[in-house]
Amino acid sequence: MIKVEGISKRYARFTAVDDVSFEVAKGQIVGFLGPNGAGKTTTMRMLTCFLPPSEGTASVAGFDVIAQPLEVKKRIGYLPENPPLYPDMEVAEYLQFAGKLKGVRGADLAKRVGEVAEKTNIGDVLPKLINKLSKGYRQRVGLAQALLHNPEVLILDEPTSGLDPKQINETRQLIRSLGGDHTIILSTHILPEVEQTCERVVIISKGKLVATDTVENLTSRMRGAASIGLEVQGDFSGVQERLEKVSGVAKVTARDEKNGRRYFEIETAEAKDVNADLARAVVEGGYNLTELKALGVSLEDVFLQLTSTEAKEEKAQ
Ligand SMILES: Nc1ncnc2c1ncn2[C@@H]1O[C@H](COP(=O)(O)OP(=O)(O)O)[C@@H](O)[C@H]1O
Ligand SMILES: [Mg+2]
Repeated sequence: MIKVEGISKRYARFTAVDDVSFEVAKGQIVGFLGPNGAGKTTTMRMLTCFLPPSEGTASVAGFDVIAQPLEVKKRIGYLPENPPLYPDMEVAEYLQFAGKLKGVRGADLAKRVGEVAEKTNIGDVLPKLINKLSKGYRQRVGLAQALLHNPEVLILDEPTSGLDPKQINETRQLIRSLGGDHTIILSTHILPEVEQTCERVVIISKGKLVATDTVENLTSRMRGAASIGLEVQGDFSGVQERLEKVSGVAKVTARDEKNGRRYFEIETAEAKDVNADLARAVVEGGYNLTELKALGVSLEDVFLQLTSTEAKEEKAQ
């Protein structure tokens, strides 16, 4: 339904989005994840035809964002980071106005306003002025606006930012209920949001794509690779080589020596319990093992790891 092909955006010499490609299948909810400044908003603005790409292109339902922007806009509902709300309008008035802009007219318009108000649970604030609404209600009005022309695709830029926990839950439920009927990309810098709401995840960092997978694969891959801390006292020459030989060990990193003790961090290749083998390797080598503990890897750790590789590469260049 959505196809992004080698899209880039440069502002003068600064590259905000760098050769990003991914696809989203019909009816899927995809989390667009990345730290602040990663390029999420810029990518979404290119997908919604608000910003021309410097390179590459994207298509929505087979229509190209550069060559056929009107066809694309017909099929997209966009909730920008800051929804385009007019504070002096009443909610109902605003939705009618927004509907007209999207080409919804007459009896159909009144019907659609009623439907989206029900879907987003804003029926009770329709006669209220927008500037009198709480942040949560404003966000829902923004979502209602995005749904007015019943688009196949929804692009939601940080839909839960600035909401309280209760409102966040309600918004996530609402988004989940919209999946299936709609293809959805939502951006966020909050990991649990992706786990709770999305089927697939696209991770970007510093403008570059760093991972795209199902949430399930990503979390199991991340959780599977455990990390272990191990400390040896006294003579530790040759310990690293011994540890590296243990089956299932992917990487051994030696930390600085401190008070005659050296600390090693060990990464395992898959979800395999190597603790006993590690302990045996150390002890059988005649070394003093003073500590062995699982460091564990959370989704958060791996997200940080994935999104900081770029920084490391940059330093190396
Ligand atoms: N109009 C602009 N001119 C120059 N730089 C910009 C402009 N818009 C965004 N940027 C830069 O592009 C990068 C990506 O921004 P953005 O897409 O808003 O990231 P995100 O939404 O992931 O937080 C940031 O470093 C931001 O400062
Ligand atoms: Mg943003």
